[in-house]
Amino acid sequence: MKEKIKKLLKEKNAILLAHNYQPPEIQDVADLCGDSLELSIKAAETDADVIVFCGVHFMAETASILSPEKTVLLPRTDAGCPMADMVTPEALAAKKAELPGVPVVTYVNSTAAVKALSTICCTSANVIEVAGSLDADEILMTPDRNLAQYAASKTDKKIHLWEGFCPFHDTLTVEDVERARKLHPNAVFMAHPECPPAILAIADEITSTSGMIRFAKESDHTEFIVGTEVGLIYPLEKENPGKKFYPASLTMECADMKKMKLEDIVNCLENMTGEVKVPEEIRVPALKAVQGMIDLAK
Ligand code: 13P
Ligand code: SF4
Repeated sequence: MKEKIKKLLKEKNAILLAHNYQPPEIQDVADLCGDSLELSIKAAETDADVIVFCGVHFMAETASILSPEKTVLLPRTDAGCPMADMVTPEALAAKKAELPGVPVVTYVNSTAAVKALSTICCTSANVIEVAGSLDADEILMTPDRNLAQYAASKTDKKIHLWEGFCPFHDTLTVEDVERARKLHPNAVFMAHPECPPAILAIADEITSTSGMIRFAKESDHTEFIVGTEVGLIYPLEKENPGKKFYPASLTMECADMKKMKLEDIVNCLENMTGEVKVPEEIRVPALKAVQGMIDLAK
């Protein structure tokens, strides 16, 4: 199956991008695995004709926003992000009317229509930098309340929260972490900023998924408790032979990220199905928000 995918990718001049939470066999066949920021940058820069996105819907939309001339395929069009659905363009427009002049920072885990109403986007890798780049004393951050509270703890700006959350990161409890720390007393605890403030308060390191891979590589420690979706254990182990990684909780498994199968990639490449295309009237304003974030990363 993997050979078939490689052959099809070549035939169609296609590139396969996979998020760090994707199943191992998909990460193994991908041209690039990464966090949301790395994947967005690659989607903007590739010269392939086709981008096959192994992740969830908003990620493929971001690729379409950045590369409208390319065909963007999402092998499982039913792979969504519950957090992204917690803010609608209508609700955001109403909130903006309550906060006139306040810039809107939107987490990339959001629909293109919501990005189109935003000043700038951010990911878990650059939220502090993005918030700091705005010449404003107040910011509305959407949709993740935990990411927003994390940003609020690092800036003097007033952050207006949106009550969205990731159902998997948000359920991690202090008791879960304490239990893992008792079992692995020498382990360092890494947490994703989608986790609640009480978790971030006891974390040794707070960073994005790729940030965790880099941190583990550079650290002298050899054991780590991983406070993010359990799929990250695979690239952590692959990139760090000899080091040990323990999930903070086994319930942190994103069902949407796990929908993708190798067969889905073969089908979508053979039939060129699962295209995600953002209409121009949404793409153009959304691009301003996404490009603003990418330009900051340069
Ligand atoms: P990052 O890979 O950008 O840290 O994001 C995590 C996530 O939840 C993506 O849906
Ligand atoms: Fe969305 Fe959470 Fe899944 Fe990431 S892990 S795609 S934020 S539901």
